[in-house]
Amino acid sequence: MIKEKLKWNEKYKTLTPKPPSTLLDFIPETKNKKALDLAGGLGRNAIALLQKGYDVTLIDISDIAISKINNPKIKKICLDLDNYIIPQNEYDIIIMIKYFNLDLLKQIPKSLKNNGYFIFETINKYPIGKTEFFEIFKDFEIIFFNENPFRFVGKKR
Ligand SMILES: C[S@@+](CC[C@H](N)C(=O)[O-])C[C@H]1O[C@@H](n2cnc3c(N)ncnc32)[C@H](O)[C@@H]1O
Repeated sequence: MIKEKLKWNEKYKTLTPKPPSTLLDFIPETKNKKALDLAGGLGRNAIALLQKGYDVTLIDISDIAISKINNPKIKKICLDLDNYIIPQNEYDIIIMIKYFNLDLLKQIPKSLKNNGYFIFETINKYPIGKTEFFEIFKDFEIIFFNENPFRFVGKKR
């Protein structure tokens, strides 16, 4: 959505990266596994995943945010996630942090490989009910859950 792009590009002219989400502390170190950071912004979480040994792809609508990510090891894709189709059975970890898109959320169980992790952290503006959320992630082992604010780390069985 062009409006979102303009809005975020304006913000990213001055925003600087914050520390990564503490939910990443639940993720073990690894080698040669694939991570996807949906709406990853300035890459604070992507960098933490890279440090854990993942091959990281970050998608975001803001070309300004993406241009500020200096790490060449992160694969950066600038696109609008509205109507995006995530490849199936592709990732070992997917994160959706401080961004919400119900259509993408519903694709995640099929996009993760078995034993893959999903990290979700939303903001109050985009609430999702616990019942609806756990219907989508019913086959996941719950590693961490907090309802308010809504934060989840799960592992696909
Ligand atoms: C609150 S920021 C969170 C960034 C990052 N996940 C983090 O935790 O630091 C929301 C992000 O969503 C991105 N975004 C918003 N709408 C989008 C869309 N339709 N497609 C892709 N990215 C989008 C923005 O550019 C922004 O980087």
